[in-house]
Amino acid sequence: MTSEDNSKYIVQPGGSLQGELRVPGDKSISHRSIMLGSLAEGVTEVTGFLEGEDALATLAAFRAMGVKIDGPEAGRVSIHGVGMNGLQQPEKDLYVGNSGTSIRLLSGLLAGQSFNVTLTGDKSLSGRPMKRVTDPLTAMGATIESNEGKPPLTIMGGKSLQGIHYELPMASAQVKSSVLLAGMYAEGKTSVTEPAPTRDHTERMLTGMGYSVEVDGNTVTIEGGGKLTATTIDVPADISSATFFMVGAAISPGSDITLTHVGINPTRIGVINILKLMGADISLSNEGITGGEPVADIRVRYAPLTGITIPEDQVPLAIDEFPALFVAAACAEGTTVLTGAEELRVKESDRIQAMADGLQLLGIDAQPTADGIVITGGTIGSGDVESHDDHRIAMSFAIAGLQAGGTIQINNCANVATSFPDFVGLANKAGLMIEQIDE
Ligand code: S3P
Repeated sequence: MTSEDNSKYIVQPGGSLQGELRVPGDKSISHRSIMLGSLAEGVTEVTGFLEGEDALATLAAFRAMGVKIDGPEAGRVSIHGVGMNGLQQPEKDLYVGNSGTSIRLLSGLLAGQSFNVTLTGDKSLSGRPMKRVTDPLTAMGATIESNEGKPPLTIMGGKSLQGIHYELPMASAQVKSSVLLAGMYAEGKTSVTEPAPTRDHTERMLTGMGYSVEVDGNTVTIEGGGKLTATTIDVPADISSATFFMVGAAISPGSDITLTHVGINPTRIGVINILKLMGADISLSNEGITGGEPVADIRVRYAPLTGITIPEDQVPLAIDEFPALFVAAACAEGTTVLTGAEELRVKESDRIQAMADGLQLLGIDAQPTADGIVITGGTIGSGDVESHDDHRIAMSFAIAGLQAGGTIQINNCANVATSFPDFVGLANKAGLMIEQIDE
């Protein structure tokens, strides 16, 4: 958000989480539903769409490129696809706010269009690395101007793209997806090998819309020149948003909460695996598949947690969940060690530093390292912490209130609206004593 963001959370200490809750739709899948639905032939009907600022930024971008999109209305969106070559040049730059997924995936998709377009973002996004997408896209024949590897990005149209094989230097679903989306417009085959599995929503949705994607171990291959067919997409609840309630229940005695219809794609369940390793009581029910994505109800009952060394293979599978997991570590008996997570330093904020600073302020021994953190469980105190305009930092410190010794104030919380509209309403319903003050 901007520097005018004066909204704060005031969280009263104590309480526990109870009941059944459905958190908003998955952010990653919501973005992709708009992007692929726009390029499809026919009308794609989406339900469970996340009406948060990030996904709405993607929606607005495609509207600006001439796609008729009805909604969102209670999570329903109808996208009147224009086909692979039906996008039109927008009249203005496309502003995508805080959304890394929008700018990185759009870069790949727009590299294959006939027109020039400029993508801009807010202060946080304008500081984030884009060379990771412009490098492979340039190798495919795209021409992209940036501000020394950062947004704004101007993507030149009318370039003919060539398929490449790309070895991802970091485990990033955004980079993988960007290259695959460009690959739809490239001559021949484009393949991406990832160092570790990352979320595969792009691959699943492409397949669901009739575009052939080959997966062989850690390599995904797509051939240019295909087409997408409209479909129906039921967006599951976002496991990244469910995480705040899972951790909240795991740390507060007496809690028993069920999060319904949550996406449990194997590339996203690091948080469940890590919490279970720490001793959390988590059970799944009503497992099924919706729109090619596995879903389940997740029940978490309080059980004492123990610090662990987090297996590095879980890092990409829990990449957005670490701020909340650090709160779990702060409430666990003993020490939790995270390594191999340097990507956390280039998220919406430097999440290692932001969490270390806030936890230390609250009296927890949290020592940042270059690629992780070492947290020794203790007693959470009270005080004013900074969200650094990062939605997940704000919500993580909010749930810390369940185990705090006094009031926690969290500054600059407007950015929670990027991923979790009405977090405060749902959190209060579940048992957190939280109030939002907008000054
Ligand atoms: C996302 C991928 C991840 C994640 C982000 C959403 C996606 O980013 O952190 O919130 O939708 O593909 P990276 O690709 O940078 O790891």
